[in-house]
Amino acid sequence: MDKFLLLLLMLGPLPVVFFQAQALMCTVCSSFKDGRCLKGKGNCTLNSVSACRTMNIFIFSETDGWLQDHTELDCQNFCFPSQLYYEQVKVSTYCCKNQDFCNRYQKFVNKEIY
Ligand SMILES: *[C@@H]1O[C@H](CO)[C@@H](O)[C@H](O)[C@H]1NC(C)=O
Repeated sequence: MDKFLLLLLMLGPLPVVFFQAQALMCTVCSSFKDGRCLKGKGNCTLNSVSACRTMNIFIFSETDGWLQDHTELDCQNFCFPSQLYYEQVKVSTYCCKNQDFCNRYQKFVNKEIY
């Protein structure tokens, strides 16, 4: 009887351990301004090649220089930090994947990050 119980214990369901990487989420917003999402609010989930992206859009004004117009937040495959100029428009892109909704906290960053 003791041997039988021992056998049952050994054959019993083995604890299955799932090493499940929790997918990170990012904030999505097509127009973020003055601390609020005005348009296209949502979430997106990262996969192995994507990162949370923050794009700050600046418009050049003759009197005041570069002024932040709005921010766009999303998930982007192969996100690359950059600073691009299109005539009177500047787009600063930041990428992160260190924590959930990390792109939210970069929304008002206005500095070079190279
Ligand atoms: C985004 O995710 C957060 C946290 O999981 C949740 O509270 C919120 O309702 C979600 N928003 C949308 C628009 O799905």
